[in-house]
Amino acid sequence: MSSFTPPPATRMCRFGQLDVLYDERVLVPRPWTLMQSEWTAELAHTAPPGPILELCAGVGHIGLTAAALADRDLVQVELDPVAGNYAHRNAERAGRSGRVTIRVGPMAAALREDEQYPLIIADPPYLPSGDVRAWPNDPVIAIDGGADGLDQIRSCIDVGEQHLASNGSLLLQVAGAIQAEQVAALLADRTGRALRIVEKRVADRMRAVVRITHR
Ligand SMILES: C[S@@+](CC[C@H](N)C(=O)[O-])C[C@H]1O[C@@H](n2cnc3c(N)ncnc32)[C@H](O)[C@@H]1O
Repeated sequence: MSSFTPPPATRMCRFGQLDVLYDERVLVPRPWTLMQSEWTAELAHTAPPGPILELCAGVGHIGLTAAALADRDLVQVELDPVAGNYAHRNAERAGRSGRVTIRVGPMAAALREDEQYPLIIADPPYLPSGDVRAWPNDPVIAIDGGADGLDQIRSCIDVGEQHLASNGSLLLQVAGAIQAEQVAALLADRTGRALRIVEKRVADRMRAVVRITHR
């Protein structure tokens, strides 16, 4: 007898103006992150033209909302094929498939060398591996940021250094004001096309978004 396990039931939640599909294999959309979409749209008024890039898109709702508010095209990068598949479905449901490209794979390999983006949204896994077990309902791939919690944040910064256009902004989610300080220190230590934090919006002790630009 074969042991076929059906996929978990698809669920739907409201996120801003969108109905978002997901299931228990991916991170459940978090209402507070609407702030990141709205901040991106705010910056789009004065940012250079061009599509928005979203790193670690999950099922795609943060970038989709930002792109709809800003009326821009969107390129999304997501490692997990299950989440990537939902991102496709959510772009379709939102009527934006024609303006959304989804690349499934690691962010380090997702972009051509010459791609430049005026706005980058990044929502990487940012917990230290030792804290992951405190969140048993969240998929490890979505929250495990390595020994110090900064592994995927470093990858987002690598992408920002190579692909953020002049006068562009990278909006990076971090684990509150303490991790924002760690990211500032990390940026201060780097050379080359250096970046810096120019603004921080804190949702609560564990949740914040920082705006990063070229120095
Ligand atoms: C914190 S979750 C955020 C997902 C989504 N933005 C949300 O708010 O639900 C991080 C996401 O990054 C993805 N991810 C982890 N490592 C990645 C990598 N190297 N490249 C691209 N995506 C990655 C995970 O699969 C997960 O969907």
